[in-house]
Amino acid sequence: MALIFLDTAKLEEISEAASWGILDGVTTNPTLMFRAGTADRKTQTQRIAEIVKGSVSAEVISTDAQGMIEEAREILTWSEYVYVKIPATPEGFKAMSVISGWPNGRINATLIFSPNQAFLAAKAGASYASIFVGRLDDAGLDGMEVVRQTRAIFDNYALDCQVLAASIRHPAHVTQSLLAGADILTMPFPVLKKMAGSPFTDAGLKKFLEDWRKVANA
Ligand code: E4P
Repeated sequence: MALIFLDTAKLEEISEAASWGILDGVTTNPTLMFRAGTADRKTQTQRIAEIVKGSVSAEVISTDAQGMIEEAREILTWSEYVYVKIPATPEGFKAMSVISGWPNGRINATLIFSPNQAFLAAKAGASYASIFVGRLDDAGLDGMEVVRQTRAIFDNYALDCQVLAASIRHPAHVTQSLLAGADILTMPFPVLKKMAGSPFTDAGLKKFLEDWRKVANA
């Protein structure tokens, strides 16, 4: 079964989605912490983990391998649910190769824009390869093709890394990611809300209730 993650650090959005019973995890990044109005990554991540009781990704700020490793050592103690997000850079792969050797070395390799970066993330021991489909599309490239190719490569070599479709912008990205074989989809709350409804459902429900009132009051 594909997993649904929410791409936000806002607690009210996470609580609402969790109450629907379909939420498997949450991804955050420094921009999303900024949007949630907090610089206290630890407390916010722990609050999120308490709500979702599933995978929560928290990103490092360092850009050098040693700094990432030191940050990861701390981040991974915040909660049993935490995955540390490491960027797909040469320094990032260096850090992933070390962190993945730890007993609690749960890694979400982030900022992936090509199947080759995803392949390196898998080789370095990441649990998730986060492909930024929306940003690829924004640049006039085909984000979903990167998801499809990564899926095929991971399957060809039975790589133990999950394909995570990130930077999802609209419900069509969700359908396309599922068809492309993504294991996990992370999306902003407005996309999840749009996914959950349809104007046809609303119109159908309105008509059913109108007709019911007619017959009930007859
Ligand atoms: C997920 O892990 C990413 O941080 C996120 O999907 C980025 O999305 P954006 O391109 O909308 O910022």
